[in-house]
Amino acid sequence: MAGVRKLDGKIVIITGGASGIGAEAVRLFTDHGAKVVIVDLQEELGQNVAVSVGQDKATFYRCDITNETEVENAVKFTVEKYGKLDVMFSNAGVMEMLGSFLDLDLESFDRTMAVNVRGAAACIKHAAHAMVEKGTRGSIVCTTSVASEIGGSGPHAYTASKHALLGLVKSACGGLGKYGIRVNGVAPYGLATRMTSHDEETAKFVEGYCATTAILKDIVLKTRHVAEAALFLASDDSAYVSGQNLAVDGGFSVVKPMAM
Ligand SMILES: NC(=O)c1ccc[n+]([C@@H]2O[C@H](COP(=O)([O-])OP(=O)(O)OC[C@H]3O[C@@H](n4cnc5c(N)ncnc54)[C@H](O)[C@@H]3O)[C@@H](O)[C@H]2O)c1
Repeated sequence: MAGVRKLDGKIVIITGGASGIGAEAVRLFTDHGAKVVIVDLQEELGQNVAVSVGQDKATFYRCDITNETEVENAVKFTVEKYGKLDVMFSNAGVMEMLGSFLDLDLESFDRTMAVNVRGAAACIKHAAHAMVEKGTRGSIVCTTSVASEIGGSGPHAYTASKHALLGLVKSACGGLGKYGIRVNGVAPYGLATRMTSHDEETAKFVEGYCATTAILKDIVLKTRHVAEAALFLASDDSAYVSGQNLAVDGGFSVVKPMAM
């Protein structure tokens, strides 16, 4: 790879690294010199990502982020293997099906909150512990969404969870600044990943739908665009940036088009 390696010597955990945005971030971050621990539920996919980038650069660790002990153990594993933790990319998430608010399924609501909010809280907490213990001025990046800023762009529980996650980012920014730890969100617009599409046909449909509703035309949002924004927040390029929610949405969250 030509150019500067932005994460040389950095130790990174990427949750949800077995698929989609997380898997792309594993590829990009390791290209930039990071050693990455892929934390995910999906063992086979996660192992495949680690093998594809080289097991000297990435390791898979199976963990359900809704289980705090498993998250704590994933962080311990990382620190025991590499001696420290510089970056937590808390990216794992789930999205329930779209539906009427009148039929809101509260069990599904709880599951969404358990992964997207509680799971992320556990990741931030245990990453911060490891960073503080080693005196590391670390960076924590959470994948939020356009649905963290505006309603109506995703299912109801998902939207509530991403708004809560953004609150968590801001609160953690306030609580961890005194240790030199930065906490930011990266907020993508819709894109085709396993979360939104299970085959090529649905992926095309998702990309077509997003292109129709997008503000920025003639470009399709890909996992690489989101991973690049996460890389900026993870690296020293953003050394004085904390508490922000970096939109990767082509302007979608700040524009309400007039009917013309
Ligand atoms: N795809 C989109 O349109 C979109 C838009 C905005 C934000 N996001 C966010 O991006 C993030 C990544 O999603 P993606 O689109 O790459 O989808 P994805 O389904 O490809 O990846 C999500 C990963 O999270 C993992 N995961 C889910 N629950 C977990 C748990 N309890 N413990 C550990 N791992 C778990 C999954 O196994 C999967 O590998 C999510 O937070 C999602 O909300 C996605």
